[in-house]
Amino acid sequence: MLLKYNTARLQLPKRRDDRYIPLRLVYRGCENAVKIGYKIGHRTPWMQPHYFNPSAYSVEKGKVILVVAGKGIGKTNLMRNIIQAYYRTTKNPIVAFQEKRGDLDFNRSPSLNQIREAGIERIRLAPPDGCASPQRYLVPLKESESREEIELKIPLAELDYSTIAEYFGKRMSSTVAGLVLERVWQSRDNHITIQDLVDAVENELYRFQDDPYFNTMVLHVKRFIELLRMDQLLEVNKAKTVHGYIHPEQINIVDLSDLGDIDIKRFVVAQMLKMVERAYKRQECFIGITESHIYAPETGEFEAKREIIRLVTVLARSYGWTVFLETQSPDALERIVVENADEIYVLGYVQRSKLTRLVRTASVKFEGFIDIFYKVVDNIPKGMGVYGSAVDPMNPYVVRIQLSPVG
Ligand SMILES: Nc1ncnc2c1ncn2[C@@H]1O[C@H](COP(=O)(O)OP(=O)(O)OP(=O)(O)O)[C@@H](O)[C@H]1O
Ligand SMILES: [Mg+2]
Repeated sequence: MLLKYNTARLQLPKRRDDRYIPLRLVYRGCENAVKIGYKIGHRTPWMQPHYFNPSAYSVEKGKVILVVAGKGIGKTNLMRNIIQAYYRTTKNPIVAFQEKRGDLDFNRSPSLNQIREAGIERIRLAPPDGCASPQRYLVPLKESESREEIELKIPLAELDYSTIAEYFGKRMSSTVAGLVLERVWQSRDNHITIQDLVDAVENELYRFQDDPYFNTMVLHVKRFIELLRMDQLLEVNKAKTVHGYIHPEQINIVDLSDLGDIDIKRFVVAQMLKMVERAYKRQECFIGITESHIYAPETGEFEAKREIIRLVTVLARSYGWTVFLETQSPDALERIVVENADEIYVLGYVQRSKLTRLVRTASVKFEGFIDIFYKVVDNIPKGMGVYGSAVDPMNPYVVRIQLSPVG
C-alpha cells in the first residue's frame, strides 16, 4: 500500500514535467549563432550541429543562399529557419516575399507534439519596441479587411520611369510624349503625387505648343496620367514613402498570393527591391524570395530580373546583404544567379536533368557527391539533403534541417 502510494507520488510530477515545455522569449539581435539542423561531412562521419551565423559572414563569405528542392520537401521550412535565425542574431531590416498565403507566420510555432518529436526548442520572437508583433504583412490589391495586414501601394515618388514604362507597355516611351514624360520624371519632386506630375507636365508641354503634333502629345500624356490614376497598385494621391510600408525592425512579409498576373508580380518584386535598396543601402538587409526562377529566369529581360542580378552581384557582395532564394527549377534559373550563390542546399531527391546546369556552374563542387548521396541514402526524409559553401567548395556536407521552431 505504502509502496503504491509512493510511486504514485513520484510519478505525478514527472508526468507533469513531461507535458511542460518551457517557452523562451527571444529578443532581436541578441544571439551569436542559431542552430538550424545537423550536418555530416565526409571527413567527420559524425553529426555536428549546423548553425546559421551571419556575424561569421565577412564580405567575401556566404551571403547568397540558394535552395533547390522539389514540392513539399522543406524549402519554405528552411526559409523560416533562416529568417528566425537572422531575426535573432541581427538587427537588420528583413523583407520576404511569400507566394502562398500562410506560408510565413512568425507568431506560429509547431504543435507541442511536433516540438517534442523533433526535439526543437520552443520559442517566441519578441516584437520590436512599440510593435505588437514581430512581423507585418504587406498585401498588394488587398481585399480582406484584416487589421494585421497593410495594403501595399507603390508610391508614385518611388517609381522609376523605366519601370512604369515597362509596366504600362513599351509603346508610351517611344513617342515624343514619352520623352517629355521621361524628362519630367527625372526630378523626384515632379512626381510625389499625381497633382505634382500634372503641373510639371503642363509646364513642359507648354513649350511644344507650336509643334504640329501637339494635340496628339497632349492626348498621349492625358492617357498616361489617366492610367496612373486608375491603377490600384499605385499610390498617386498621397505623398508616401517606403518607410510607410517597410518597418526596419519587423519581419516584412510581402504577400503575392492574390496576384494572378505574373507581370504584376514581377513589377511588385522589382519595385519593392528598388525601394528597399534606396532606403537601406548602407545597412545590411535580408531579402527572401520564393520561386526565384519566375523572377530571374534564364530567358527574358525585365526589371525584376535585373534587380535580382543586382542583388546577388552588388548588394550581397559590397553591402553585405543576405539573399535567400528558393526554387524548384534550378535549370530555369539565370546563370549569373547560380554562379553567385555562396551557399547551396539541394534538399530531397532532385532529378539529375534539373541539376546538370547547377552542378556545372555552381562554385561548390557537387560533382559525384550528390550521386553518392542518392545511392547511399534511400527514403530521404524531409529537410535532408546536401549542402555546400563557396568558402569550402571541395567539402560538401550532408545536412538535415530541423523543423523551424517558429514561422
Ligand atoms: N526539416 C523538416 N523536418 C520535419 N518536417 C518538415 C521539414 N521540412 C518540412 N517539413 C514538413 O513538410 C511540410 C512542407 O514543407 P515546406 O512548406 O517547407 O515545403 P516546400 O518545399 O516549401 O513546399 P512547396 O514547394 O509546396 O512550397 C511542412 O508542413 C513541414 O511540416
Ligand atoms: Mg514553399
